[in-house]
Amino acid sequence: MTSDIAPGEPIGADTRGDDQGLPAARPASHAANVPASTPGVILRIVGLHRHFGGVKALNGIDLSVEKGEVRCVIGPNGSGKSTLFKLITGIHAPTAGSIMYGGGRIDGLRPFEVARRGISMKFQVPRTYLQLTVRQNLRIALQRTRLSRAGLRDRMRDLLHLVTLAEFEEAPAGLLPHGQKQWLEIGMAIAIGPRLLLLDEPTAGMTPDETRRTADIVKQINQQADMTVVVIEHDMDFVRYIDRRISVLHQGRVFFEGDLAAVSSDQGVREIYLGS
Ligand SMILES: Nc1ncnc2c1ncn2[C@@H]1O[C@H](COP(=O)(O)OP(=O)(O)OP(=O)(O)O)[C@@H](O)[C@H]1O
Ligand SMILES: [Mg+2]
Repeated sequence: MTSDIAPGEPIGADTRGDDQGLPAARPASHAANVPASTPGVILRIVGLHRHFGGVKALNGIDLSVEKGEVRCVIGPNGSGKSTLFKLITGIHAPTAGSIMYGGGRIDGLRPFEVARRGISMKFQVPRTYLQLTVRQNLRIALQRTRLSRAGLRDRMRDLLHLVTLAEFEEAPAGLLPHGQKQWLEIGMAIAIGPRLLLLDEPTAGMTPDETRRTADIVKQINQQADMTVVVIEHDMDFVRYIDRRISVLHQGRVFFEGDLAAVSSDQGVREIYLGS
């Protein structure tokens, strides 16, 4: 792996343009849980550092995500998870290191440039308009699309279905229970069809049932809408429902990576994260 890839230089087999369909599949055996139709690395992070004064929030992150994955990122408080997302989305610039996405390098780009390349993040802070209905909120999120009237109608129907809010489309967002508000937020984040969706603790404050349903929604988004998802979570039930590859952050580095069984049985992870 190298950290000296120039901005704009291609880094993987990601040839999918918005209207170009998917690239040819490669054999499914390259990764157990990655669908064969989504080959290649979509996100590659090398030696990423971000320091805030003396605080080394990120201290040499190396991370690769394959197209089609749902990657869970876990780690103790202050381990750098949210900072990692803020660097990917251009909110913060790296102190050192590189972030490659799709066809090129994105570290140092402004947030709107990163968004334009197909990366969307659901923020912790709500961004919905509480006095507007579910449908009106999604319509606002769809403003930047160039879809025809029929295309918009189809997209709206798909979105409402994906985030399980079809029955509540005329409900004011402010009257939705907490879980459904979060799902509306997810709907707004995926409205314009990003290729990479970042979710920072989407189940915070949810009931166990809402948490499980959120995992189902994330799986649907991944499979039906063909989006790669990276999700930061503290809730281990959610991570269990997702049951895909997990990256464990600790002190600004990727401390361990593996499936649920490997992460759960690793003594080092237990010590730093699970506290046993
Ligand atoms: N803008 C900032 N200025 C100064 N320090 C910061 C800033 N953002 C993050 N930090 C520090 O960087 C470290 C990592 O913070 P970060 O929010 O990324 O952790 P986290 O893993 O998301 O934690 P949590 O699980 O509590 O959400 C912490 O020590 C935090 O105080
Ligand atoms: Mg955080």
